[in-house]
Amino acid sequence: MTGVDETYVRVFDTTLRDGEQSPGATLSSAEKLEIARQLAALGVDIIEAGFPAASPDDLAAVQRIAREVGTPDGPVICGLARAVRDDILTCWEGVKDAAKPRIHTFLGTSDIHLKYQTGLTRAQALERIREMVTLARSLCEDVEFSPMDAGRTDPDFLIEVCALAVECGATTLNIPDTVGYVTPQEWGALIARLIAETPGAGRGSGIIWSVHCHNDLGLATANTLAGVEAGARQVEVTINGIGERAGNTSLEEVVMALHTRAPYYGLRTNINTREIVKTSRMVSNYTGLHVQPNKAIVGANAFAHEAGIHQDGMLKNASTYEIMTPDSVGWSQSKLVLGKHSGRHALKARLQELGYNVEGDALNQVFARFKALADAKKTVTDADLQALIADEFHGPEEIFRLDDIQVTCGTMGMPTATVKLTNADGETFIHAAVGTGPVHAAYSAIDAIVQAPNELIEYSVHSVTEGIAALGEVTVRIASPSDGRSFGGYGADADIVVASVKAYLAALNRMITSMGYGERKPEGEAATVGLNTETA
Ligand code: KIV
Ligand code: ZN
Repeated sequence: MTGVDETYVRVFDTTLRDGEQSPGATLSSAEKLEIARQLAALGVDIIEAGFPAASPDDLAAVQRIAREVGTPDGPVICGLARAVRDDILTCWEGVKDAAKPRIHTFLGTSDIHLKYQTGLTRAQALERIREMVTLARSLCEDVEFSPMDAGRTDPDFLIEVCALAVECGATTLNIPDTVGYVTPQEWGALIARLIAETPGAGRGSGIIWSVHCHNDLGLATANTLAGVEAGARQVEVTINGIGERAGNTSLEEVVMALHTRAPYYGLRTNINTREIVKTSRMVSNYTGLHVQPNKAIVGANAFAHEAGIHQDGMLKNASTYEIMTPDSVGWSQSKLVLGKHSGRHALKARLQELGYNVEGDALNQVFARFKALADAKKTVTDADLQALIADEFHGPEEIFRLDDIQVTCGTMGMPTATVKLTNADGETFIHAAVGTGPVHAAYSAIDAIVQAPNELIEYSVHSVTEGIAALGEVTVRIASPSDGRSFGGYGADADIVVASVKAYLAALNRMITSMGYGERKPEGEAATVGLNTETA
């Protein structure tokens, strides 16, 4: 085994696996591919593309990413597998076509997980690790092993587990704080001890130590950095910190800490930091998980200065209140201002600079929307364009498509919406309903057509940029009453009722797709074009 460059930190992105486990974050396979491409452009070293044994769809999505993004000069493509024979075989099917495939297998090792989850004794767990890591290594040269719930595992047993995994062929040892329980000091000390005391895995052995932290106490970034200071040279992170419960460590926070405090850490990554904001917006738009305004690095207020004394300092010299520039993470990428006089050429060129290759009919479509927006708004920003692209081209399979919507509202009379939808079989439905406001009326009309019971658990609207004519972005989350699963949707339009309808339909389409369209449609039901004016 060769030595490890001790100054290089590998970035292992698990947005498409742990991140996708966020409630409501289900992504279509086209969206996963697009995000994987963007992660490659961002410069991540390893993409955990999914959990192939979870479903045939997950397997197909991982295979597609392995083939299309896992090129020889691209990132390692990794799949997750429980320490179970069939999972590992399926995982290999998922990643084997990548130029650099990796199998990541895991088993809970804390007494709590052994007792309540797997029912294994410590001896049985060791035996399972021996068999499954050996199996994974017989298929793939690059094998990562994670002792799940390491943060609450007896450290002596953890050393035994890690030594065994290395003996059986693991090349990366990932130490997860699965439940976000540890503190930075404890975590740093644990990682340092593991590196020093695990036979066959010390410095110079070629084994990569990795940390994977969850944010239940808001300590994920601090813990990850403590792990790095203690010698970990791989960080497992997600864009915007999305993930199970309170989420995972944010890629942007760890990378910018290492970058901004380079003299302190003396470490480097391969991340092109100028791609961070674009990646963040893409993940937020596709998952429907809105980024809080005060989120470090990628929140809308991360570089906003409100207090007079701060503004005064900024005008004199930006270093007074900014420890990194907005440009360095990809805010305000362009000096080119697009407006109503800009032509197709300028739009195409700007989209290309933003990483979107849009041609032919697709370009015509975006151009028409760009013109409408530019007519209403003086300048169209990069954020506007990214929102238009996300709205126009990326979303779930369209089981129901919005044709038209008309609303009447105001202080006189009841808010009423008439909605025209077409389904995947080409059938058209028109319905009118009233509600407490125009969005409620529109959602009621859609519900009457789609007939997919759900609970609206989140609805948020905000403007992409400032100004009265700004593009409105809406994200919604709905929950299925049958199994409680939640689904997100995103829509953007200068008219927020239209954006709201698009977002709701996107979420409904996701829910219906996951249920199977045929199961929802009443048997033998003919196409109907109805007008319903019942009170919602
Ligand atoms: O949090 C966790 O323990 C995980 C493992 C599968 C690595 O996500
Ligand atoms: Zn995790």
